[in-house]
Amino acid sequence: MKYDQQIIIGESPAFLEIIEQASRAARHDRPVLVIGERGTGKELIASRLHFLSPRWEQKFVQVNCAALPDTLLESELFGHEAGSYTGAQGKRIGRFEEADKGTIFLDEIATTSLSAQEKILRITEYGTFQRVGSNKTIHTDVRIIGAANIDLPSAAEAGDFRHDLLDRLALDVITLPSLRHRKEDILILAIHFGQKIAQEVGWESFPGFSESVIEMLLEHTWPGNVRELKNVIERAVYYSENEFHPIEGVLLDPFNSPYRPSTVSSKHKVKIQKEIKPETAIFNEPLDFQESVENHEKELLHHALNKSKFNQKEAAKFLNLNYHQLRHQLKKHNLLS
Ligand SMILES: Nc1ncnc2c1ncn2[C@@H]1O[C@H](COP(=O)(O)OP(=O)(O)OP(=O)(O)O)[C@@H](O)[C@H]1O
Ligand SMILES: [Mg+2]
Repeated sequence: MKYDQQIIIGESPAFLEIIEQASRAARHDRPVLVIGERGTGKELIASRLHFLSPRWEQKFVQVNCAALPDTLLESELFGHEAGSYTGAQGKRIGRFEEADKGTIFLDEIATTSLSAQEKILRITEYGTFQRVGSNKTIHTDVRIIGAANIDLPSAAEAGDFRHDLLDRLALDVITLPSLRHRKEDILILAIHFGQKIAQEVGWESFPGFSESVIEMLLEHTWPGNVRELKNVIERAVYYSENEFHPIEGVLLDPFNSPYRPSTVSSKHKVKIQKEIKPETAIFNEPLDFQESVENHEKELLHHALNKSKFNQKEAAKFLNLNYHQLRHQLKKHNLLS
């Protein structure tokens, strides 16, 4: 993807401040860390850092560190000599060598092994490294941009990330605000994506959103941030039946279905079992699980509606649901008049 094809959208003060920080950081040619929840635009900011830097005409090499197992990642990053490990055929130039004079973007840097981190540290300090299976020292002049969606100081405290590498990379740390921390941008982004997708599907223009959809978009907490918003809008445009009418409905959770499987992977099952406290197992008589859950849900809804004097927005707040989720529950239990 080329930088000039990617428009960065956002007008909230929190976001503008970050764009400003990224523009300043682009100039100093030192390492930068880009931190943020999933889908907040880390990749977009990393490419902005490169293309606004003095290295913009040189290579911008991107590596997703989470995509490869430890040994293959080291070979990918630093290259290897022929026969250095089983399956290594021929000599291979690593990504650090490829990025010489340019920028390397180490996405999901927190997932790298301590051994890879040690080698990256050497590059930040001396600009040198060795290919896997070789003693020859190679020089490289790269600017490192790292990205993570976890708190790196906590990872360092836990022994999963080297303190010394963190100190070297943390010269400038750009922390992207999540979408729920910049609600002013939700509609601007939604309209931007709406217009883009409407154009792609051949609509004359984008008709906008109905009031209730706008309310829903503003109330959602967006755990998947901008990527999630983009998907929601894309789906809404594809499903809309009238291109001249404001979009009336959006599906926030595509997994929502009465047939949704209740099973989780065995990996997750163990965790859930561990979290169940023994005191919850107080039932002696056999019972119908589905019926009990439904009754409990109804009880909660009645309680919240009574408490809020039948104000649905208040009731949703009381149950820590958004308005859309509450309406869905009320509909499910036939509680809508
Ligand atoms: N401010 C923005 N303006 C326009 N598009 C954006 C913006 N922020 C993110 N996007 C879009 O949202 C999607 C996710 O962005 P990106 O891949 O940069 O996020 P990320 O933080 O790297 O996510 P992950 O942690 O999941 O890798 C992309 O399609 C990107 O183009
Ligand atoms: Mg990313």
